[in-house]
Amino acid sequence: MTSTTPKKVRVPDLALMKQRGDRIVMLTAYDATMARLLDRAGIDLLLVGDSLGNVIMGLDTTIPVTLDIMIHHTRAVARGATRALVVADMPFLTYQVSPEEAMRNATRLFQEGGATAVKLEGGRAIADTVRKLTAAGLPVMGHLGLTPQHVHRLGGMRQQARSESAAQRLILDALALEDAGAFAIVLEAIPDTVAEAVTSRLTIPTIGIGAGSHCDGQVLVSYDVFGLFDTFAPPFAKQYAQLGEVIVRAAKDYASDVRDGQFPKSTPKQTGDLAGRRVIPSPNDRAFEELKGAGVQVH
Ligand code: KIV
Repeated sequence: MTSTTPKKVRVPDLALMKQRGDRIVMLTAYDATMARLLDRAGIDLLLVGDSLGNVIMGLDTTIPVTLDIMIHHTRAVARGATRALVVADMPFLTYQVSPEEAMRNATRLFQEGGATAVKLEGGRAIADTVRKLTAAGLPVMGHLGLTPQHVHRLGGMRQQARSESAAQRLILDALALEDAGAFAIVLEAIPDTVAEAVTSRLTIPTIGIGAGSHCDGQVLVSYDVFGLFDTFAPPFAKQYAQLGEVIVRAAKDYASDVRDGQFPKSTPKQTGDLAGRRVIPSPNDRAFEELKGAGVQVH
């Protein structure tokens, strides 16, 4: 097991981690409380994924997620994270129209959201944009394989790079992203052998999700890991807790305590100085007169 240090994780650390053979650990986070907890657990990278469209907003795809929504959640995560490096997804069609528009939109995630890096889906088609962003000092993480923003073109959420030619195209995309200045690449839902080939050809780290054990790091959606999202469980995600069940049990206990009059209980501390005193004003009190004067019906 690799030990984690309290030192803040920075972009250049990731290439060093690959060189040293230290596995990189990434999870998604969408709010400050979760970010604080994951930071305490020593997670290296927090991804404010546009998967929040699915797990937070209840959408079927990530396509309706807007830049303003991403900024809102990124700001919350950035407030909660002390050590972890915060990466924000650029949402659908905020970086494909032109490199200039991508630059303006990415800048908002850094300036308003407090992100340290942005993640973009795609390979050679967006390499020019990646080059411009990184040249301007905005660190970019790539994302290849199953790219959920392309769900309609791909015909569903299914494994990619299954044929030899598709695998070769993916390797060329990865090399193009590295050349354009990306500091890491997420590889989603591709065969282990393809992920291994990409990982061995790149000097920047690969971070896998459903891409086997040969990547330099792993990422999962935190709601899958903690058993919070019960609509769909990706086959490659491992549940390390069933927090959904814990929450249902706790909510039921609270509901029955309220219904049975067991919560809240009056304690001397809560009653405080008012214990035994008259707190309802009499109809002759000034407070009553003022309320009546303000048009409030009092009896
Ligand atoms: O949006 C997301 O959570 C992601 C991960 C699945 C890599 O892109």
